[in-house]
Amino acid sequence: MFKIVKDTDKKIFEKCEPVEMPLSDELRKTALEMVEYLKKSQDDEWATKNNVRSGVGLAAPQIGLQKRMFAIYYEKYDENDKPVVVQYSLVNPKIVMTSNRMVALKAGEGCLSVDNDHCGYVYRHHKIILKAFDVLQNKDITITAYGYDAIVLQHEYDHLDGILYYERINKDNPQQEIPNSYLI
Ligand code: NI
Repeated sequence: MFKIVKDTDKKIFEKCEPVEMPLSDELRKTALEMVEYLKKSQDDEWATKNNVRSGVGLAAPQIGLQKRMFAIYYEKYDENDKPVVVQYSLVNPKIVMTSNRMVALKAGEGCLSVDNDHCGYVYRHHKIILKAFDVLQNKDITITAYGYDAIVLQHEYDHLDGILYYERINKDNPQQEIPNSYLI
């Protein structure tokens, strides 16, 4: 069980170090445990019993590890309304392409490290291409992500640079609408 580092700890605002490759057995184990943690956090019974909040993404600095790795896990419906699981445990991710078009969640973002609500739009690139080593597939992969998927990846990627979502909200106008963007 991980103890989640909150934003009351200044370490969460630090930039993380690249992970040495090939991956050590210890970090591989941690990377897999991070996905399991997210999966279990979405089970209400388990989450309540363990006093854990439900999350779709978890970055290494959130468990006290200043390394460039993060996991994501959630279920969604594809174009044909079929349920699919989106899951990765990524090491040394690099965003190699970003769209000019932006997207934000209508309801705003949340974070396991942030206990207070911060209302407002967090604009992120509508499309990104990201390269990383995926521990689940045990190989280098390239992900092309749009909309919600792109938002989750960028939120987690930000953690590796010590950036929390609320730092991206326009303080003077949290519900600001910007050109070439949409809300989901
Ligand atoms: Ni977060």
